[in-house]
Amino acid sequence: MKRLALVLVALAAATSAANADDRIAPVTDPTVKQECGGCHMAFPAGLLPARSWRRMLDGRADHFGEDLALSPETADLIAGYLSVNAGDTATRGLARKYMRWVAPDGAPLRITENPAFLRKHPFPDSTWSDPKVVTKSNCLACHAGAAQGDFERGDFEKGGRTRPPF
Ligand code: HEC
Ligand code: HEC
Repeated sequence: MKRLALVLVALAAATSAANADDRIAPVTDPTVKQECGGCHMAFPAGLLPARSWRRMLDGRADHFGEDLALSPETADLIAGYLSVNAGDTATRGLARKYMRWVAPDGAPLRITENPAFLRKHPFPDSTWSDPKVVTKSNCLACHAGAAQGDFERGDFEKGGRTRPPF
């Protein structure tokens, strides 16, 4: 009995270590959640470097065609939070993988153009244009737990193939 308990503890530890690599810290700051989570999910800070977040907030009057209408104080607060938690501050896990593709002085504005993203999302156009998805940035269409930082690959394994959940 004792031995079984030990095995279970070891298994649980192994599973959570594996899962840790498919997880990325979600946005927890209430202001960032509110101001950056209204039109799309509040994307995890770790998927872009600090330079990108600053550039994005500097360009807030034309954010992919939208004026975010943020006061300078709120923009500073958001840029500060996202930068402190940015991908280039991470030492391991998904953020490191995404940062590998970003040039040392690069400040991309899109997560969905990163080769790390594209390699794991090699879907046909029909998937992206599906009414349930519409755009690559709609992470929640496929990753139900994305707002909690959960991008588990296991959710997608069906019959030995990896595909979107619909
Ligand atoms: C008024 C609506 C709106 C708000 C509020 C908003 N965004 Fe966006 N955001 C957009 C649109 C529209 C796009 C482009 C979506 C697309 O092409 O799929 C976008 C795209 C993005 C992308 C790129 C997604 C990709 O394709 O990789 C990031 C990153 C992003 N926003 C971050 C933020 C941050 C940070 C905030 C808060 C400061 C914010 N957004 C607030 C409308 C908004
Ligand atoms: C059309 C469905 C779909 C959309 C939309 C989508 N994903 Fe995924 N995602 C998947 C599938 C399927 C996998 C599993 C791929 C694999 O393991 O080979 C995956 C895997 C991942 C992984 C884990 C694999 C890895 O190591 O990179 C991350 C992280 C991820 N997605 C992030 C995102 C983010 C961030 C967004 C939104 C900007 C997003 N996804 C949008 C379907 C989707």
